[in-house]
Amino acid sequence: MGGEAEKWVLMVTARTPTNIAVIKYWGKRDETLILPINDSISVTLDPSHLCTTTTVSVSPSFDQDRMWLNGKEISLQGGRFQSCLREIRARAQDVEDKKKGIKINKEDWQKLNLHIASYNNFPTAAGLASSAAGLACLVFSLAKLMNLKEDNSQLSAIARQGSGSACRSLYGGFVKWFMGKEENGSDSLAVQLADEKHWDELVIIIAVVSARQKETSSTSGMRDTVETSPLIEHRAKEVVPKRITEMEGAIQNRDFATFARLACTDSNQFHAVCLDTYPPIFYMNDTSHRIISCVEKWNRAEETPQVAYTFDAGPNAVMIARNRKTAALLLQRLLYNFPPQSDTDLDSYIIGDKSILQDAGIKDMKDVEALTAPPEVKDKIPTQKSKGDVSYFICTRPGGGPVVLSDETHALLDPLTGLPK
Ligand code: DP6
Repeated sequence: MGGEAEKWVLMVTARTPTNIAVIKYWGKRDETLILPINDSISVTLDPSHLCTTTTVSVSPSFDQDRMWLNGKEISLQGGRFQSCLREIRARAQDVEDKKKGIKINKEDWQKLNLHIASYNNFPTAAGLASSAAGLACLVFSLAKLMNLKEDNSQLSAIARQGSGSACRSLYGGFVKWFMGKEENGSDSLAVQLADEKHWDELVIIIAVVSARQKETSSTSGMRDTVETSPLIEHRAKEVVPKRITEMEGAIQNRDFATFARLACTDSNQFHAVCLDTYPPIFYMNDTSHRIISCVEKWNRAEETPQVAYTFDAGPNAVMIARNRKTAALLLQRLLYNFPPQSDTDLDSYIIGDKSILQDAGIKDMKDVEALTAPPEVKDKIPTQKSKGDVSYFICTRPGGGPVVLSDETHALLDPLTGLPK
């Protein structure tokens, strides 16, 4: 180690996306290594709308590893954080910053302490895969700081030990997590199936149904499912392997009809095994079910599916529209069925890529109020319109993988003290 009076702070800031599974991961065969009972496939979401930014820093003046999440200090003592830190430190290389006159030998990383600050641009634990982006970003940024030689796929096997779904956030576009066969988990890692440009027509609309903390964590939920559900084995052994092959083909061929059928049925089956768990786990609520009905009715009325939906361990709906035109039609239907509360303005009700709102011809609340029932529900009993069931909608699209942010203005830690800015 070198540098002036050992006062230096070296840091790296990175940004990592969230992902939404279209063939779900649910159930582990090894709890510590986080090895799943089936392969899964996800779509990476555009980090401009949903991402984690993390700054990692090292300095001889730090007396312990510390971490801050969204400005609040959190404990790094958990086994999962410790696994990730241990795995990364074990692979650390020599690092030299000639400008700052810093030289760190690879052995030094075992003794040096780290400061980590992480920030999500969306609510933590609202069922929006914040742990996935968070753990992936932690691993990715530390790998850059410590100059690891491993590629993103090898890094994904480290991120996996922080949170299973995190391993799929090491890539953009469409990603497959191989469950692997090895007992040590070395082949349980993520690969990119196609980048985000491969199928760039897709538009994603997320209905944030509840921003409350979720009730049953994925970790304990899937443990209970594996222990009590007789259906989960059938799902993992018989259903998912076929769906994985079909889904890979659908993505390769940009076959939206197959993609939508698989994504919807797989989400439904995941929630079915939750219901088959004893005691049962309910992640979706009444609003979630009404969103499914709205999409199903419309898809059925069209010749071919227009929108896919999928739900993780919470009530939020992630809808994937085949193109911008369908996304605009979807937004009209969603706003008709789930209008904002009178005190909410449209600008904060539809966030992310607001241009979809323009495509839908909606400029203000008057336009929302003027929306009429879509043709597929005409002549039927009007559906109950309830304001406030959806907190807000996020319009986004498939996006790219992790990136280093070299511009120091993005850093979350002070470059002199290594403490949160
Ligand atoms: C429903 O990755 O959060 O989102 O591995 O225990 O941290 P742990 O669980 P987590 O589970 C995600 C489950 C899911 C489906 C998915 O993302 O594939």
